[in-house]
Amino acid sequence: MNWKDYFSTSIGKKILVGATGLFLIIFLVVHCYVNAMVFWPDNGKHFTDAAAFMGGNAAIRIVEIGLFAAFFIHIIQSLMLASQNAKRRSEGYAVKAGNKTSKWYSRSMGLLGTLILLFLILHLYHFWGPNRYGQFFDPTWKEDNLYNNMLFTFKELWVVIVYLLGCVSLCWHLMHGVASSMQTFGLATHRYKGMIKSVGMIFAILIPLMFASMPVYMHCLSTCMAH
Ligand code: HEM
Repeated sequence: MNWKDYFSTSIGKKILVGATGLFLIIFLVVHCYVNAMVFWPDNGKHFTDAAAFMGGNAAIRIVEIGLFAAFFIHIIQSLMLASQNAKRRSEGYAVKAGNKTSKWYSRSMGLLGTLILLFLILHLYHFWGPNRYGQFFDPTWKEDNLYNNMLFTFKELWVVIVYLLGCVSLCWHLMHGVASSMQTFGLATHRYKGMIKSVGMIFAILIPLMFASMPVYMHCLSTCMAH
C-alpha cells in the first residue's frame, strides 16, 4: 500500500486529523502566550515587541505556511471522516445510540469545527490581514498598530460577543479533540486514560478562558480610555 492509499483509509485520515490537531494545539499555546502579553501594564510594549519578532522572523513565517496547511488538512480530513462514519452508521444501525454511548461535544465536532472556522475567517480579517498586508493599502501602517488595532476592534461589543462564542466553541471542540488525538497515537493506554482525559479537560477550559479574557479586557480598556 502506498502513502496515498494509506491516507485514504479511515485510520490514515484519523492519523492526519490527530497529527494536525496536535500541531494546532501547540499553535494555540504559543498564540495564547504571546497574546497574554497585552495584560502587561505597559500599553502593549511587551506584546508589540513579541508580535514584531514573530512577524519578522523568517523561520516563523515558514511555520505559518505549515499552520495554514494544517488547518486545511485538519478540516478536509475531518469532514471526509465524518461523512464516511455517517454513511457507515446509517447502513449499520437501526437505532441511534445518541447520548447513551457518547457525549454531545464528541458527536458535534463538525458543527463546532464549522463555528470555529467562521470565527477564524472574521479573526484573520481583523488582525492577520491588516498586519501582514496593511502596508499595501496604507503606507503609514506600522507594526505597533496591532495593539491599537485590538483596542479599536474590541471597542465594538458585538465583536467581543462573537469572539466569546468562538472561545466557547473552541472549548467544546477541545473537550473531545485533545484526548482523541492522544488516543489516535496510542498515548491513552488503559493506565493513563483517566489522566489524559483530565489533562485534556483542563486544557480545553484554561486556553479558551485565557483567550476569552483578552477581548473582554481590551473592551474595558478601550471604553475606559474613551471616558
Ligand atoms: C480570542 C482572543 C484572540 C486574540 C485577541 C487574538 C489575536 C490575534 C492577533 C493580534 C493576530 C495577528 C498576529 C500577527 O499577525 O502577527 C492573530 C493571528 C491569528 N490567530 Fe488569533 N487571537 C485570538 C484567538 C485565536 C483563536 C482561538 C484562534 C484559533 C482557533 C486563533 C487563530 C489565529 C491564526 C490562525 C492567526 C494567524 C496566524 C499568525 O499568527 O500569523 N486566534 N490573532
